[in-house]
Amino acid sequence: MTGPGPIPSPISRRRVLSGMGGGLAAFSAFTVLPPLARARGNIRDYRLKAAPATVPLVGTQGPATDVWAYNGGVPGPVIRAKRGERLRIHVENALPQPTTVHWHGIRLPVAMDGVPFLTQPPIKPGESFVYEFDVEDAGTFWYHPHFNSSEQVARGLSGPLIVDEDTPPDVDREILWVVDDWRLTEDAAIASFDRPFHDMVHGGRFGNTVTVNGRISEDLAVTPGERVRLRIVNVANARIFRLTFPGHRPWLAAIDGHAVPPRQFGEEDWLVIAPGARADLILDMTGEPGERFAVVDNSPEGIRYRLADLTYGAAPSAPAPARPAPVTWAANPLPEPDLGTATRLSLDMEGGAMGGLQTAMFMGEKLSGRDLARNHGMFWSFNGIVYPPMKYGHHGDPMFSFKRGESVVMTIRNKTAFAHPIHLHGHTFRVISRDGKPEPDRPWQDTVLLPIDGEAEIAFVADNPGDWMFHCHILEHQKSGMMGYVKVV
Ligand code: C2O
Ligand code: CU
Repeated sequence: MTGPGPIPSPISRRRVLSGMGGGLAAFSAFTVLPPLARARGNIRDYRLKAAPATVPLVGTQGPATDVWAYNGGVPGPVIRAKRGERLRIHVENALPQPTTVHWHGIRLPVAMDGVPFLTQPPIKPGESFVYEFDVEDAGTFWYHPHFNSSEQVARGLSGPLIVDEDTPPDVDREILWVVDDWRLTEDAAIASFDRPFHDMVHGGRFGNTVTVNGRISEDLAVTPGERVRLRIVNVANARIFRLTFPGHRPWLAAIDGHAVPPRQFGEEDWLVIAPGARADLILDMTGEPGERFAVVDNSPEGIRYRLADLTYGAAPSAPAPARPAPVTWAANPLPEPDLGTATRLSLDMEGGAMGGLQTAMFMGEKLSGRDLARNHGMFWSFNGIVYPPMKYGHHGDPMFSFKRGESVVMTIRNKTAFAHPIHLHGHTFRVISRDGKPEPDRPWQDTVLLPIDGEAEIAFVADNPGDWMFHCHILEHQKSGMMGYVKVV
């Protein structure tokens, strides 16, 4: 991908292995069908090679940046399938350190979840791992390493994963924006990772350069009257984007890949999209030929960025007919939690600067906040527990254990001076309330942003057996205590 633009077609070869039709498929069914190939749908094969690369993040006029990338590009290639198909992704590690790949937002068998130590051994340099899973849900998802992720993601490892609906919404075209935030030196090199404590104890590794699809702001040519589906993925370590679309009134039509009744932006509205989260907008290009509009991250002065300019070309010869407002597209087959019988739990988040931990449990011992910071580099707790980074043979006890099929309502409270996007693996939850008020449309999400002092209730069915990470997606917080797992048995 280069700059904002249409999504390139998938690079996969479509392979028919389900044994129907042609002689070749029938023949191969009796030869060496791989053991995991008993898919319901077609298998789409991809290869990802994680390796050092050099890319023009700040444009071809500026110095190039040494990154770590999938298949040489930032972001990595679009991995794409239709709902019900099977993905098989061969991952090769050519990095100088171990890695794994996690498929963020995808409900899959735990062995394919890509969490080092918990669900698989890390993929060592020079080694490979094959991930294979069915995609049950349509939507906008993404992939990234889960090993040393605060460094590996910051160096450029991430990419989009798109699962097409059976009946996609009626638009003229689709645009994908992978938005990112980089901390670069003056020479456009990735700033060092030497002193992580400041980032850990504050809002994470905030950057100084915002990119869309791996480039600083560029023009996006649009046609007056066209209707676009804009998929946005925030792959930044720490930046919460607040996107405004001056001159336009987009509809928010999906959150974290899952359809919501389209809600139209008012003139002053912006889209809050936290690290890990995705949004699908339906955007009518209502400008006039020759007009130009900036899409801006409405962060405070000094850290505000222009992401792209919508630049209007000539009007089409046949003007586009006026269109009705977009309608909600089909829901994914998610299990509906039973709020009447649900197990109720709470999760309190504490720690960080301007507040800080008094004491917390760490590997079975009660330690002072000072001890945790100085001797262990740990700054955050969930329910009074600081979760240690995982290692071989040691990933501690689960935060919670659930019986398969159990409905759960969890109240998450942010008692810190920073916002935290909290992400659960292997499951999708409804956000049912915020700060005690029912949340409109109870959207399905896999990542929920807890503002400072905020509270949210999420509900889900613990239906996927295994050990599932539950963590803050500000990757420096994840590394310094805000990361545990839940067990479903
Ligand atoms: Cu996007 Cu645990 O990850
Ligand atoms: Cu956090």
